Amino acid sequence: MMLPYCLYLTLWMLCIGQCMGQVLQFPDSYDGAVGESIVFAPDNPPPTSSAFWLIRWSFGEQPVLTSTPAETNIPPAYTDRVTVDTTTHALMLMNLTFSDAGTYELSVQTDTIYKGQTSLVVYKKVSNATLIGPGELLIERKSIAKITCEGNGDITSVQWIKDNDPLNPSVSVIFSSDNRSVSIDPVFRSDSGEYQCTLRNPVSFETKKLTLIINYGPENVLIEGPNEAGLGSLVSLYCFATSVPSASFTWKFNGTDTSVTTEKFTIEKTTLTHSGDYICTARNHVTDQNVDSQSHILEVKVCISLQISSVSVFLSETFKKSASV
Ligand SMILES: *[C@@H]1O[C@H](CO)[C@@H](O)[C@H](O)[C@H]1NC(C)=O
Ligand SMILES: *[C@@H]1O[C@H](CO)[C@@H](O)[C@H](O)[C@H]1NC(C)=O
Ligand SMILES: *[C@@H]1O[C@H](CO)[C@@H](O)[C@H](O)[C@H]1NC(C)=O
Ligand SMILES: *[C@@H]1O[C@H](CO)[C@@H](O)[C@H](O)[C@H]1NC(C)=O
Repeated sequence: MMLPYCLYLTLWMLCIGQCMGQVLQFPDSYDGAVGESIVFAPDNPPPTSSAFWLIRWSFGEQPVLTSTPAETNIPPAYTDRVTVDTTTHALMLMNLTFSDAGTYELSVQTDTIYKGQTSLVVYKKVSNATLIGPGELLIERKSIAKITCEGNGDITSVQWIKDNDPLNPSVSVIFSSDNRSVSIDPVFRSDSGEYQCTLRNPVSFETKKLTLIINYGPENVLIEGPNEAGLGSLVSLYCFATSVPSASFTWKFNGTDTSVTTEKFTIEKTTLTHSGDYICTARNHVTDQNVDSQSHILEVKVCISLQISSVSVFLSETFKKSASV
């Protein structure tokens, strides 16, 4: 009774070196794309000096490729889809489909046995990404902007960037539960900018961009120009407004409309009748808001400065003369 038991033990001891063999290291998992190929390559292939007598790649229980020095056997399911590197024993699997996902095992028998395993996850690549923005013009504090990122394939993450920084949720910036859509309710002028969405999975990504313009204003309307001008001089008044899109302007003088519709109001040669009250009205045709500026008083004087008193005296003399004529 003792002898067989001893024999068994002895065989088992021999097996520690021979049967348990060496472990081939692989990455824990590979990511593959439908229709593409993948290469499972051991990090520590058996030394090329040791002549092999059997290489076997299998997928679960199913053989993928069996190779002896005499012949290579590939089952029909893998015909034209696999090749093996004769030195590293790396397996290349082509034209991947979802059904290729699972566990792969390599065993190489030389004078020892080398074994290792890894797994494959298969994704359909992201394609056809589109970023759909709001169709209508956006007005500050009034509009809601909804932007949606759509695409085909296995999408495992969605990332949003605005003007090169991550777009973060806030009181007015709300992400859908799957992060595919963002609602900005309401929009503010600071929401203007370039939005970018990236649809991603471990084997691919697509990025799309969209620019949002938030219309606002006009506000901060003001007129710049002199309050006094000498008789016969050229005077220009400028009207400014903060507005997107740029405001259009109209001008009133002493409460009466003028025909001027530019930001610049020019008086080529002043007469005393140009003294009075100038009002610029800024209008934004998108927000449909009007804003009146503060009025701007211009006084046309016969003499305007002590520094040029001689000229003033001359002018006032001339004026008196012409007035008395
Ligand atoms: C594998 O894909 C290539 C193109 O990538 C194609 O030409 C070939 O026919 C495909 N083979 C199989 C077996 O599907
Ligand atoms: C991309 O989108 C277009 C139109 O929406 C569609 O016809 C096409 O089949 C899509 N392509 C893929 C790869 O999904
Ligand atoms: C949505 O994005 C945020 C980061 O912006 C992330 O923390 C969250 O896990 C994402 N949710 C989903 C379902 O992808
Ligand atoms: C405009 O109004 C000012 C007073 O605000 C007045 O002195 C001036 O005569 C007016 N000019 C015209 C042309 O009505």
